[in-house]
Amino acid sequence: MNLLTHLRTLFGPAVGAVAPDPAKVPDYLAAIKPAGNPEHGDYQANFAMALAKAAGRKPPEVAKDIVAALPPTADLDPPTVAGPGFINLKFSSAFLARAVQSLATDPRLGTPLAALQKTFVIDLSGPNVAKPLHVGHLRSTIIGDALVRILRYLGHTVVGDNHLGDWGTQFGILLYGYKHHRDDAAFAADPVRELARLYIAVRKLFKQVTDDDDEGPTDDPVKKACQEETAKLHAGDPENVALWRTFMPACLEMLRPIYDRLDVHIDHALGESFYNPMLPSVVADLLAKGIAAESKGAVVVPNAKGVIPQTDADQKKEEPPAIVRKRDGAFTYTTTDLATIRHRMDTWKPDAMLYVVDARQALHFKTLFANARRWGYDGVEFQHVQFGSILGKDKKPFQTRAGGVVELSALLDEAADAALTKYEASYADRKAHGHDVPELTDAVKRDIAEVVGIGAVKYADLSGNRTSDYVYDPDKMTATDGNTASYMQYAYARCCAIFRKENIDPARFRTDPPAVILGEPAERALALQLLRFPEAIDAAAADYLPHLITGYLWDLAKAYSVFFENCPVLKAATPELRDSRLLLVDLVGRTIRRALDLLGIRVVERM
Ligand code: ARG
Repeated sequence: MNLLTHLRTLFGPAVGAVAPDPAKVPDYLAAIKPAGNPEHGDYQANFAMALAKAAGRKPPEVAKDIVAALPPTADLDPPTVAGPGFINLKFSSAFLARAVQSLATDPRLGTPLAALQKTFVIDLSGPNVAKPLHVGHLRSTIIGDALVRILRYLGHTVVGDNHLGDWGTQFGILLYGYKHHRDDAAFAADPVRELARLYIAVRKLFKQVTDDDDEGPTDDPVKKACQEETAKLHAGDPENVALWRTFMPACLEMLRPIYDRLDVHIDHALGESFYNPMLPSVVADLLAKGIAAESKGAVVVPNAKGVIPQTDADQKKEEPPAIVRKRDGAFTYTTTDLATIRHRMDTWKPDAMLYVVDARQALHFKTLFANARRWGYDGVEFQHVQFGSILGKDKKPFQTRAGGVVELSALLDEAADAALTKYEASYADRKAHGHDVPELTDAVKRDIAEVVGIGAVKYADLSGNRTSDYVYDPDKMTATDGNTASYMQYAYARCCAIFRKENIDPARFRTDPPAVILGEPAERALALQLLRFPEAIDAAAADYLPHLITGYLWDLAKAYSVFFENCPVLKAATPELRDSRLLLVDLVGRTIRRALDLLGIRVVERM
């Protein structure tokens, strides 16, 4: 059960009775929110002000009328009206106790499937293969995977699609490198390694290394030669196409260990190359439908104001017209993305298409979506699920010591190392204090460090609002205290330890739950928090914001820690109380585990 939904259902008829326009009732009900200050109650309804305005009455009177019109319910303590018409709502402890007890038997921990089942295509990860992975693609992979998991959990059909950059200028670099600098024996023995070496070696020959191997005019002879190789590949030159086919498996192989390590498995990887054969027909169709027009030898879709650039000044207007075929006949990122939309609509008929891509591409997607709608795809929800940059501790875009693009695997190693160091310190400390700690063989250590290290990277990425930049700091992200993965993983392991210590099988609490007793404020607060999990999942899914789940976890962890300090579990005063508290502990563990799983983060039973 979602507590908010429950309250809105309770209030529906009472609000309907005073609302001037019945169609607006859901909007008014949206003003029921968690209380800012728990002393005032669990939730607060702020709709009386708006309703009073619409009816020309005084808000406190309207609030009182609504409260009086509520059906009798034992679920709430009597609601109170405060200040300018706020209605304070507090669930009765009896209701919370019953609700938590039934939560214990629910494998879904209270979260119903979405009422409206949809099909989503999620465009995630999207690395440019044949290049070392960039940190930006780390965010797309982690955030995208969390959204796949969250939406699937709600029962939606979710198709993950990795729009690989597998047709870009980086292949010119590889083709040039392969033709002029290859080591045949090395390529035969380990093509992945040899291609990576060639890529780096050729880029070192550029007079000036830029981040994006841009295609613009250049007087750098090596760069120019690379660009020519790319152009030949795109023109279908048989030798270059054959080499591209040889390189591709090795390029994909470079990505595999990273995805494995991140535990991310994407359904499809239809990259740019897949759409290449379809591009001429996209342009022809846009021309035939009068959506695109020729302009100075290029083919262009005008912007919303209908501007087709005739001058360079036109080109600079805020929302640029989209070029779908350049003067030299080359197609663009936009042409490929339009072909992709058509293919996805034909294949999966989604209700929504989400693009988990760097905020710097905002203009591209704004224009793309507008053009797709003009092209006839106007019944689908397009969303650019954008995210900010990863920054170094100096607040500048993140770079490794070597500079330039960051080797992702090195980054993950670093996180796992930091996790291991912290883990060993805390382990030694706990052992010295006589705590229950597992035997530390090297294999156990390595497993834990990997789970904690990768979890730390993911959690750090997911725990801020995705639209903000965040500072990559391995030391902070592996901290064992605060809103981090390690803290949640420890909390989970501590829940397991309580059962292990006395050899108690938690299964009993899930099949035949004991009565729940909520005598202490800390017990009540924890029960309320456990019941709020569905609300967090729904909110995260509604706005594609995974940090609403980490925020929930952090509140849960805090409520658990207050409970833990104030409410002895194994040494509870009566067997009934002990059972009730064990049930709460089991639910905390299950909820943490499920919430972390929705974020793609693993746990271990013993740390
Ligand atoms: N490969 C692109 C890049 O690194 C990201 C692809 C995003 N997806 C898309 N359909 N455009 O910039």
